[in-house]
Amino acid sequence: MKTLFKQPGNNKAMRLVLAIIAAFLIIILINSCKHQIPVIDNSNPGGVSGLPGSTGRSCSADSVYFANEIFPLITSTCAMSGCHDATSHKEGINLSTYANIARYVVPGNASNSSLYRQVIKTGSERMPPPPMAAWTSDQASRFAKWINQGAQNNSCDQCDTTDYKYSTAIKPMMQNKCQGCHNPALLGGNIDLSTYAGVKAVADNGKLYGSITWATGFSAMPKGGLKMSDCEITQVSKWITAGAPNN
Ligand code: HEC
Repeated sequence: MKTLFKQPGNNKAMRLVLAIIAAFLIIILINSCKHQIPVIDNSNPGGVSGLPGSTGRSCSADSVYFANEIFPLITSTCAMSGCHDATSHKEGINLSTYANIARYVVPGNASNSSLYRQVIKTGSERMPPPPMAAWTSDQASRFAKWINQGAQNNSCDQCDTTDYKYSTAIKPMMQNKCQGCHNPALLGGNIDLSTYAGVKAVADNGKLYGSITWATGFSAMPKGGLKMSDCEITQVSKWITAGAPNN
């Protein structure tokens, strides 16, 4: 009798538990869809100026550096959400860390490196695939040079806070670290950073500074990449303060 009496209560309790489990599952599902920001597990691979682990090593014009040039290029053109980031890892390929990238290169031998061969392909087979922009021949040859120099996880400090002109400091920075996700074919956040006008617009509305300083209320940029060095942030800040001129 006792059990019979208790039955309806147990059913209620059971329904409550099921409802809670269902709610959890829904929350997890929603979050897994939202959570597409590439996760970088080595937050500072080579040690870039202004970040913990800064090398203080000055840049040699003859060398190509992973943390300064190769990693930003790969982060913005390959390791983004929906492609080869830690979450999506299309075709099992995750290019969000040095260790993972190193799997697809043969140090000292670019032409035998699958990653290099992939970016120099043409037509529909190439990576990044159309409609994304192909790597320029200059980008591909810098990548080959890095591989041929040993494909090291290296970095150097080469930033001059007295240079904050658009043409010599800001534009190359945008090309290297931002444009892969902010161009007419791939308008991250509806923002085009491949033209002066586009960069000027976010300089003027405060979003450029907010996003690169990882300030609260802004999306941290470069998305999924390393925070820019203090020196680079200073260059941007000085340029904005000067009125973000097209100089
Ligand atoms: C891997 C792709 C990717 C890279 C690299 C990237 N962005 Fe973004 N960016 C996005 C996406 C996507 C958004 C839309 C908002 C979001 O999803 O966080 C965005 C949004 C922004 C915004 C609007 C932020 C806000 O809070 O409204 C700014 C400004 C911006 N990016 C600037 C930059 C700059 C500057 C760089 C280079 C230093 C950069 N982005 C690199 C993908 C990227």
